[in-house]
Amino acid sequence: MTGPAAPHFRTWQAQRGAWSFPVDRADAARFHVPGEGWKWDLGSQSYNVHVGHAHPHVLDALRRAVERAVLTAGPHADVPERTALADRLRRLSGMDRVFFALGGAEAMENAVKIAMLVTGRDRVLARRRSYHGATLAMLGVAGDPRRAPFAAGGGPWIDDPYPPRPPSEGRPSDWVEALEAAVDEAGPDRVAAVVLEGLTGTNGLQIPPPDFWPAARALADRHGFLLVADEVFSGLGRTGRTFGFEHFGGRPDVIVLGKGLTSGYAPLSAALVSGPVAAHFDDHVLYCGLTHYGSPIGCAAAAACLDVIEREGLVERAARLGTDLLGRLADLARGCPAIRDVRGRGLQIGIELDGPAAAVGRGLWANGYFVPAKGPMLYVCPPLVIEAEALAGFVEALAAVLDAPGGKTP
Ligand SMILES: Cc1ncc(COP(=O)(O)O)c(C=O)c1O
Repeated sequence: MTGPAAPHFRTWQAQRGAWSFPVDRADAARFHVPGEGWKWDLGSQSYNVHVGHAHPHVLDALRRAVERAVLTAGPHADVPERTALADRLRRLSGMDRVFFALGGAEAMENAVKIAMLVTGRDRVLARRRSYHGATLAMLGVAGDPRRAPFAAGGGPWIDDPYPPRPPSEGRPSDWVEALEAAVDEAGPDRVAAVVLEGLTGTNGLQIPPPDFWPAARALADRHGFLLVADEVFSGLGRTGRTFGFEHFGGRPDVIVLGKGLTSGYAPLSAALVSGPVAAHFDDHVLYCGLTHYGSPIGCAAAAACLDVIEREGLVERAARLGTDLLGRLADLARGCPAIRDVRGRGLQIGIELDGPAAAVGRGLWANGYFVPAKGPMLYVCPPLVIEAEALAGFVEALAAVLDAPGGKTP
C-alpha cells in the first residue's frame, strides 16, 4: 500500500508514493497490520529475524541486560556480555578473535580494513552480482547497481555468468576463470581480499559452481590475500548450515556476521578472524574502533539468539523446511511457465519469474504473505521458526496468484 508521507526516509525508494504498511504487533513468523490482519513474514523484515518476532527468551535476556544497567562499555572496560559472546562465536566458527560492529556494512568495512592492514595492499575484489552494504566504501566494493550514483570506484569485479558453465575435463568453470582474470587484472600483489557472500542474497541468489569456493581458497593461499566470507545474510542457519560457505567447500580467513546474529532485537554485527590474522595485531595497531563497539545490549541479544538457534535446532529446521519448500516449488514450476527457476539453500530461496515480480508480490500480500520482490525475483526467506503448513499455504497462494494448477480456491 502507499503510505502517508513519513517524517523519516523510506530507504531505497522515491519518497512520494513510497510503499509502506503499519505494523502494531508481531509474533514468531508473522506481523499484524491493523485493518488487514496477520501477514506471514516471508522476508523476515530485512532478512534478519531468524528466531522469529517477540521470542520470550530473547526478550528476557534484554530485560536482564537492561536491569544490570551497564549499558555502555568502552574499549578498555570488560563486560561479561561481550567477552562471553566473543568466546562463543570463536567456538562456533573455529575463528580466533572477534571485532564487533553495529550492522553488516560496518562489519564488512572493518573486515576489509583488517585485510588491508594485514596484507599492506589496497585492492578488494567482489562478485559482480553482490551486495555488501550501503556505506560508501562497501558500495564501492560490491557490483550491485545501487553503487551507480556514487561512482564509488572499485572493480574489477568477478563475473558470475548465469547459468554458470560448470567445470569439465580439466577446464574450470567460467566463474573460476573470471575470478582468476579479476585477480590478474587487479594485480595479484595488490589484492588485499576477495569478499564473497556465503550465498548471494537479493542479487539473484545464483548458486556458485562447485569449483568456485575451493579455487578462491587456493588463489588466496597462492597470492597471500584474505578470503572474506560475507555471512551477513546467509549466516547462522539461514541456508540450513551454520554458514552459507559450508555448502561450497570454502574455508575463509574472515567470517562476517550481522542480521540473524541478533535477529534485529538490537544492532550488532561481527567480523571473526582466523588465528594468523589475529596474530598480526599482537604487534601492530588495529586502526579500527567504534563508540558502540560490542554494546552489552547487542551482545546480550546475540547470545540469546544463539541459544534459541541451538535449543530449537533452527539450522536443521531451516534445512528440512527448505528442502520441502524447494520440492513443492519445483513441482509448481513444472506446470507453470510463469516460473523460470527456483533455487536456494535452506530458507534462503529465490523464485525467478518470467517478468517483473512486483505485481505477484502484491497478489501474495492480498493472500496474507509478505514476500519481497525485486526485478523478476521473489525472495522467500522467512524466520527459521516458521511452520511447514504456512510454507505449504504460501505455495498454494503463489499458484493461485499465478493462475497455476494447485492454487487455493477462493
Ligand atoms: C550480504 C550482505 N552483506 C552486508 C549487508 C549490509 O548489512 P547492513 O544493512 O546491516 O549494513 C547486507 C544487507 O542486506 C547483506 O545482505
